[in-house]
Amino acid sequence: MQLEHLFKPLSIGGVEVPNRICHVPTDISSSHIDGSVSSRDIHHHEMIAKGGTGLIIVGATSVDGKAGRSTVTNLVIDDDNYIPGFTRMSRQMHRYGAKCAVQLQHPGRQAALPREGKLTASDQTVTLPWSQSRAIVYANADESKKTVHVLSTDEVLEIIEQFSEAAWRVQQAEFDAVELHAAHGYLISQFMSPYLNQRTDRFGGSFENRMRFPLAIIASIQKKCGDSFPVLVRYSVDEWVPGGRELPESIEVAKRFEHAGVAALDLSQCIQERPGAGFDPMPYQEGWTSYASEAVKREVGIPVIISHSLREPEYCDEMIREGKTDMVGLARQILADPYWPIKANHGKLEDIRKCISCLTGCWQESMMAKKEISCAINPECGNSAFSHMKQAEQQLEIAVVGGGPAGMEASRTAALRGHKVTVFEKTGELGGAILGCCVTPGKEKMKWYADWIRKQLAKLPVKVELNSSPGVQELKRYDLVVYAAGAKSWVPPVHGQKDNVIPMESVMACPKISCEFHPQDGRRPVKLPGEKVIVWGEHYGAVDTVLHLASIGKQVTVVTDRKEFAAAVESIHMYVFRKRFNQGDAEALESKPFKHPVRILESSTLDVIKEGEVDILDSSFNRSTIACDHVVSCWTKPDTELLDKLKAEGIAVVQAGDAVKPRNLHAAVEEGAQIGRIADGNKLFNSNRAMVDDLPLDVLDQLKR
Ligand SMILES: Cc1cc2nc3c(=O)[nH]c(=O)nc-3n(C[C@H](O)[C@H](O)[C@H](O)COP(=O)(O)O)c2cc1C
Ligand code: SF4
Repeated sequence: MQLEHLFKPLSIGGVEVPNRICHVPTDISSSHIDGSVSSRDIHHHEMIAKGGTGLIIVGATSVDGKAGRSTVTNLVIDDDNYIPGFTRMSRQMHRYGAKCAVQLQHPGRQAALPREGKLTASDQTVTLPWSQSRAIVYANADESKKTVHVLSTDEVLEIIEQFSEAAWRVQQAEFDAVELHAAHGYLISQFMSPYLNQRTDRFGGSFENRMRFPLAIIASIQKKCGDSFPVLVRYSVDEWVPGGRELPESIEVAKRFEHAGVAALDLSQCIQERPGAGFDPMPYQEGWTSYASEAVKREVGIPVIISHSLREPEYCDEMIREGKTDMVGLARQILADPYWPIKANHGKLEDIRKCISCLTGCWQESMMAKKEISCAINPECGNSAFSHMKQAEQQLEIAVVGGGPAGMEASRTAALRGHKVTVFEKTGELGGAILGCCVTPGKEKMKWYADWIRKQLAKLPVKVELNSSPGVQELKRYDLVVYAAGAKSWVPPVHGQKDNVIPMESVMACPKISCEFHPQDGRRPVKLPGEKVIVWGEHYGAVDTVLHLASIGKQVTVVTDRKEFAAAVESIHMYVFRKRFNQGDAEALESKPFKHPVRILESSTLDVIKEGEVDILDSSFNRSTIACDHVVSCWTKPDTELLDKLKAEGIAVVQAGDAVKPRNLHAAVEEGAQIGRIADGNKLFNSNRAMVDDLPLDVLDQLKR
């Protein structure tokens, strides 16, 4: 049997888990405003159970909604009236054979709500968590308003009670177990951390004292729920701050928990002062945390769960076979593809949509932006309309102009619904802007998505016309045109040698013509003989260009008129990349340092390009001259030449992705998928020029008559 270790049952505290796949807690921030379970919560977890995950741990759930919610709509279980909603959720998971637990949390200093007076173990890190990365993106970041209340000893005792009452409610709601969130710098983690806990009472100082809070919570739960109700604990093996907890102490922690009757250990990483290791962005490799589970597992007899960047079923199976862990934990992978287990079990490995660790959908544009969960590459995540997608009643002939992510996703969903789709791509390969990631160090995972969707298209009746740029006449015969031609670089007004500016596309071209991700359009990377390069521009394109050029030894200076360079790029990636720009690495990453640091000139613009130098103007009109061998433009704008002509001809056309406005993969996939999902025989456009579906029967009848 393939992957036999992954699909072997395991007992956790007497609960028989059908396989070794655990959905480690993931707050999907989709509850009602009071924290009660919503239909979105139920649908999301039901989908995961359907997909065959053995153990599902529902994300951070507040034990005291008023004093601490980690996101504005995370779950709450601080009163008995939450029990019915949680029961509905557990029953939907049990229906598909999964075992389930709820992760109980008090966010403490890291609360999204309340904004003032957050509860904390001690007050020395008030301004730290996330402020660096969030402030770049969000001018009004919560952290600027952060005030804290240091818990008195009596208040600590009260919170211990709140945890055990919450655990009792979890038990009443028919869950199989409860997990304590003692990782990532939230309240329990803060008490346990030698770096964060500065208390002088019996809950601070020595190892014994720092362990007192979690151990008291466990004892209190056991008293209230009985010894046989399994308690799991999630904690960070390495905190990645000087003076923080490291592996040797984490092994001692494991032993204490085992001694206290904990049923399983869910091992994670980091506190929020060092987010790189906790939310591993793209450059982190699969298996980088296995050192932790291997070491802990050697010292305890209870099951160990390890997570972080695990993506490949075979790799996971191997980890279990080699005794590196008892269970594999998947968080984002299950968001990207909740059907990972069933596909792995049926040997459909190439159909698994592997999470690319981009953190845009699930983090930047949901949790951090105070919105509900989504995923950049899985339109179904957070949008149940995709779960109920039906075959189209009338088949359309659809032309898709542009074979980038938006065009491919529109083609995939439209073809799934039975439409006849032809994709026209002007280069020799499908992939669009993703193909540039071939030369961006640390962003290779982008190609996973390109690879996946190309294979899906190959399995569907989608006709692909490569090296093809159809005109209006050719497109006229289609029922619907999806315009997804992407964006292209351009050069803003500048004095001097404007013609010498090199477009980003010429620099980011992959040199390997034989590579399956080479666009095959005759493009070769231009040679840059000089060392000093100005990267002039913004957004993902500019960041990727900087990473590429710095990695091949160029001395790069970024010039941008924005206050913050790449402010819209996902913040944890920028946290890591800024460290790379300074020739360092973030937390657990180990990569070759750049030969030169990257210099960033913000609120500045390029005024004159001369021979061997450029003039820069800052926002106060101060002029400076810097030496430079080449200027690369990374400003992009939509490519709309053909679109305007199609509209003028009255052809039914809809736009998607960067052809609307340069953004990111998430926007492209979502818009493409949405078009594929709603395209139907009626092809009705409203007065906003948006395609509409699902109109009430009488309105449809009135409009068509
Ligand atoms: C959207 C999102 C929500 C998360 N919510 C939680 C949570 O509620 N509790 C927790 O312990 N970890 C949480 N995490 C961390 C994940 O459980 C996991 O440790 C991390 O994403 C790395 O593993 P992965 O590569 O499998 O995603 C969250 C991560 C993300 C991206
Ligand atoms: S948004 Fe990106 S990181 Fe998050 S689950 Fe989807 S692919 Fe993974």
